Amino acid sequence: ATLSNNPVTARAHTNIALIKYWGKKDESLIIPYTSSLSLTLDHFYTDTTVRFDESLSTDQIIIDGQIPSEKSRQRVRDFLEIVRGKAQIAIPASISSTNHVPTAAGLASSASAFAALAASASKAAGLHLDATELSKLARRGSGSACRSVFGHFVEWQRGTNDADSYAKPLPDTGLNDIRVVALTVERGQKAVSSRQGMHLSVTTSPYYPAWVKTCQADLLQLKSAIEKGDFTRFGKISELNAMRMHALTLSADPSFTYFNGQTLAIMNLVKQLRHQGTECYYTIDAGPNVKVLCQQSTVAKISATFAQVLGDQNVIIAKPGPGVQYL
Ligand code: PMV
Repeated sequence: ATLSNNPVTARAHTNIALIKYWGKKDESLIIPYTSSLSLTLDHFYTDTTVRFDESLSTDQIIIDGQIPSEKSRQRVRDFLEIVRGKAQIAIPASISSTNHVPTAAGLASSASAFAALAASASKAAGLHLDATELSKLARRGSGSACRSVFGHFVEWQRGTNDADSYAKPLPDTGLNDIRVVALTVERGQKAVSSRQGMHLSVTTSPYYPAWVKTCQADLLQLKSAIEKGDFTRFGKISELNAMRMHALTLSADPSFTYFNGQTLAIMNLVKQLRHQGTECYYTIDAGPNVKVLCQQSTVAKISATFAQVLGDQNVIIAKPGPGVQYL
C-alpha cells in the first residue's frame, strides 16, 4: 500500500434500522446473532478527514472541534490499529471529524462516524477497499456502521466470521417515497450504551433465543414488503420488530428501558394518527427518541402534528440517503 500524502475526507450518512441488530455472537469481531435491515438517511451525516503523518508521535483526534474523552479516543485508536495492521504501517494519524447528527440521543452517530472513518482512514493508508471490504472494516468500529457504507435500504447479512459478515444494498424498489420524521425528546447521552444493553440482553433475557428466531422471519417479511412496495406491511413489521427488541431490555436482569415518559406519549400519538387515517408507524433505537415512518404524501401533516407537541427544532424530516462518498 502507498500512503496518501494528502488528507482524505469521506462523508457517511447515518441509518435507521427497521429490523434491529441487537446482540453480538462475537463481541470482539462484532459478529451479530441476527441479520438486520436499515434505511440510510440523507439528513444526518459525519465528515471525517484522516492523514497519516510520520512527524506525529501519537494519533491526534478531534471530534466536533474538541478533544474527545479518553474512552472515545481509545475506540478510535483501536480502530486505527486495525487499519494500520491491514496496510502494514505504524504511522500515527491526525483525524478530524464533524457530526451532523444529534450525538448519542438514539440516532446512531456511531454508524455514520465509523463508516466515514473506515472510508477516510483506509484510503489515506493506501488501501483500496471495495464497498464490501469497506463494510467489513466499518463493522469492526460499530456494527451498524457496516450498513452506512451503502445508500437506501441495506441488509447486513450476519455471516459467521470476519470475512462473511457485511452489508449489501437491496435492489431498487417502489418504496422510494418513504420518509422518516426524527423526533428528539432528549438530547443527553444515553444511560446504557448499545454495547452494554446488547450484552445484558444476550446474557440474561430468557427471550433472547425467541428474538433470534423471530428476527429471521421479520426480515424476510420486511424484504418482501419492500419488494412489493407495500407500505402498510412495511410499517407494521418495522414497528413490531422494534418493540420486540425493546422487550429484551425489559426482560433482562437487571431490567432496563430506553423509553422515557415522552417516548410512550409519542408512541400513543402515532397510533392515534393511524387510527384517524393518517398512516404512520414508529421505530426506536437505544435511546428515548422516536422515528416516525411515513410516506411523502403524509409527511407534512405528521411533522406539523409533532412540531406542535415538541417544537419545530425537535422535528426533522429525513429521506433515503446515499452511501459513503469521498469529498
Ligand atoms: O452499532 P451499534 O453498536 O451502535 O448498535 C446499534 C443498535 C441499534 O441502533 C439499536 C439497532 C441497529 O440495528 O442499528
